[in-house]
Amino acid sequence: MYVCVCKAVTDSEIREAALNGAATIEDIAETLGAGTGCGCCREMTQHLIDQQHTDHLTHAA
Ligand code: FES
Repeated sequence: MYVCVCKAVTDSEIREAALNGAATIEDIAETLGAGTGCGCCREMTQHLIDQQHTDHLTHAA
């Protein structure tokens, strides 16, 4: 599913970037470009990053 339509970035790309160390929207913007257009995907992007980190921690525990 596309999260960032402006930059054609999907939720799985954002999750993968979060796994690889991205922790903020700025990190995602730098690596994938998401959030650098209209900005309306930023809240969803942050949610996905947080969710990915939570899932990861839960699985690691
Ligand atoms: S939808 Fe991501 S910047 Fe516009």
